[in-house]
Amino acid sequence: MGRVRVHQHVNPLAPYYRQAPKPVDIEHVFADPTKPLLLDVGCARGRFLLRMAGAEPSWNYLGVEIREPLVDEANRLAGEAELDNLHYAFCNAMLWLDRLLEGIPSGVLQTVTIQFPDPWFKKKHAKRRMVNREMIDTIARHLAPDGRVFVQTDIEFLADEMFALFRGDERFREDPTAENPFPVKTEREKAVEEKSLPVYRSSFVLDGSSEKIPG
Ligand SMILES: C[S@@+](CC[C@H](N)C(=O)[O-])C[C@H]1O[C@@H](n2cnc3c(N)ncnc32)[C@H](O)[C@@H]1O
Repeated sequence: MGRVRVHQHVNPLAPYYRQAPKPVDIEHVFADPTKPLLLDVGCARGRFLLRMAGAEPSWNYLGVEIREPLVDEANRLAGEAELDNLHYAFCNAMLWLDRLLEGIPSGVLQTVTIQFPDPWFKKKHAKRRMVNREMIDTIARHLAPDGRVFVQTDIEFLADEMFALFRGDERFREDPTAENPFPVKTEREKAVEEKSLPVYRSSFVLDGSSEKIPG
């Protein structure tokens, strides 16, 4: 089967994307819901998680994406690969990440990745950018103590903007991260590396520090 064709961008402020998602039921979507959970926000086709779920099966993986056909296709591929530790959810993470995560027991979400989110370059589109103060607050409230957020992008101003949001929240401490700590690269990361463009990365740890990444 060929790749699903979808719009390159969708407007997260359009009425369709303002609808609340159902909270993820980890008892239902994962075979063993007690495993530590990695959340990838803006996962696109979900290939990063597909490979992580096979490579590091002692974790569960949840991908969140606003382009619904990509979510359906990614769940289909996870099913075909018989991965019972991987699930993708259709959600506008800019507005509804809190609702999506509300059923996840405390202590389970141990890592969050935000990788190459859409920059929405124009000033008039700045409100469409996925990472905002509400998302930082949601992550801080759902992440386990010592949990880690890994952020990377090739767009310098967007890195500055996202890093400033985390640095401005005293619940996080920064752990500067020059290299991708995961054994897998995202699609966008591979494309950027092929063009030898710089990538801006950092990590933010909630309340104290310890290594909490698979791999
Ligand atoms: C440039 S792509 C990068 C995809 C992947 N993380 C990677 O590194 O290859 C950004 C992704 O974020 C998704 N996205 C943008 N805004 C979003 C939102 N508000 N909620 C969920 N996903 C969003 C886009 O649809 C797109 O798939």
